[in-house]
Amino acid sequence: MTILEYLSLQPFNTFGINACAHYFCKVQSKEEILHIIQEELHFYSKFLIIGGGSNILLCDDYDGLVIKNKITGIEVIREDEEFVWIKSYSGTVWHELVQYCVQHNYGGIENLSLIPGTVGAAPMQNIGAYGAEIKDTFEELEAIDLQTGTSRIFRKEECRFGYRESIFKREAKGKFFIYSVTFKLSKNPVINIQYGDIQRILQEKAISHPTIKNVSDAVIEIRQSKLPDPKELGNAGSFFKNPEVEKSVAENIQLEFPAMPKYELPNGKVKIPAAWLIEQAGWKGKQVGHTGNHAKQALVIVNYGNSTGDEIWQHALNVQKSVQDKFGVLLEPEVNVIK
Ligand code: EPU
Repeated sequence: MTILEYLSLQPFNTFGINACAHYFCKVQSKEEILHIIQEELHFYSKFLIIGGGSNILLCDDYDGLVIKNKITGIEVIREDEEFVWIKSYSGTVWHELVQYCVQHNYGGIENLSLIPGTVGAAPMQNIGAYGAEIKDTFEELEAIDLQTGTSRIFRKEECRFGYRESIFKREAKGKFFIYSVTFKLSKNPVINIQYGDIQRILQEKAISHPTIKNVSDAVIEIRQSKLPDPKELGNAGSFFKNPEVEKSVAENIQLEFPAMPKYELPNGKVKIPAAWLIEQAGWKGKQVGHTGNHAKQALVIVNYGNSTGDEIWQHALNVQKSVQDKFGVLLEPEVNVIK
């Protein structure tokens, strides 16, 4: 395995930021990642593991070792009458796994079609869209301890999944290399079409008994109509999380803004769409220099070309501040900001 020096990371992050890695390597097998852990890692002041690079903002050049995960593959490891257990290696492109499952009529992740990124990054932030989250079908993952090189299995409870949260973003952050993820999928899929836009598309197409392929196609259609394709316009999806506030806070905002959308949560709190707050603060479709908020989805910050990571970060801070000033709500980045 070769360790390269001074490599542009532009092809490896969906924001398309032209930051430079001081050192860079690709790992394609367990042996290679173990070699890195045991023989190489201690030479570097810091390291960064990247999958699809679809949830990172590189604010500057990276003065350490960037490890690009290329360990790929999909295997059926067990099945019974009702379920199938699919193990996928962490460098596999997420949507390729979704397509494999849809083709085989294994249900459970079709609502997560077309989410950019890799399988290994999916449990880190418990990816979710259109009424489904990865935790709904997650069985377990194998992670390699970056200090000792030993393998450890994390069952669902141990991952402590929450809204765009897991142990890998908190206590276990930077401590493990996620090697493979196993999902338990249904051979008799139960369709999940609670999300309004999916229902609308199925109705338009007069599909009364949808298959998971129909649901996947509808989700792809929604995403393509609302979200910019990173290949055409650099972005990392939603930049901020949807904030959860106390009920009294939401009620106070609603006195002034009666049209505010909100979702009551089982824990008594209220979720407000960050996109709505950002739009109300005047950022939707607004371009500042090389960056701005997308015209169809205010929560998505885009690189209109040649933006630096720092420029995007400064823009995000301005958006965050104006939302805080207007509504008193602090938006927390969903994207992993590498400073
Ligand atoms: N809205 C606006 N202005 C906009 C866009 C949306 O006011 O420009 C309001 C509308 O009221 C809309 C509501 O926000 O009903 C929710 O919008 P949307 O359905 O587009 O979803 P979101 O909450 O903005 C979340 C995820 C997305 C995921 C969608 C669909 C987060 C941070 N984002 O976005 O995930 O695709 O739901 O389920 O939870 C991602 O994580 O990168 C991502 C794209």
